[in-house]
Amino acid sequence: MNILVINGPNLNMLGIREPALYGSGTYEALCEKIKAYCQTKNVAVSFYQSNHEGALVDRIQAAYSDGTDGIVINPAAYTHTSIALLDAVKAVGIPTVEVHISKVEEREAFRQISYIRASCVATITGKGFDGYLEAIDILVEKKA
Ligand code: DQA
Repeated sequence: MNILVINGPNLNMLGIREPALYGSGTYEALCEKIKAYCQTKNVAVSFYQSNHEGALVDRIQAAYSDGTDGIVINPAAYTHTSIALLDAVKAVGIPTVEVHISKVEEREAFRQISYIRASCVATITGKGFDGYLEAIDILVEKKA
């Protein structure tokens, strides 16, 4: 099984940005943690991070023909603004889980909208980096 983990804008700043909300672990540490977990599950994992909406759309579209079986995505701020990301996930039809490190439902009103959610099989919020591992479990179980 091949899983693609996509992270949106400012998540390359993990460890530096608002540690009270997002923790002190870096983006690299997040990827290492996911990689180690996937090894125990016999899952191949690849990673993509971009600060650009169109680049994220391009990567989702590429997943259609590169053998990706499942997508874990934290669209970050584009969660709350991007219909293009929603449409991209719908277009490729690959099972996708939405992850947020923080508990978005307990934050500002503008974070209460998630456009991409309508195309996702599950949403995980407020579990820190562990949320990504839970998302992988969901995709693995779905494929089994
Ligand atoms: C986030 C929550 C978003 O509202 C925010 O814009 C982010 C990170 C999270 O992981 O909690 O950049 O997606």
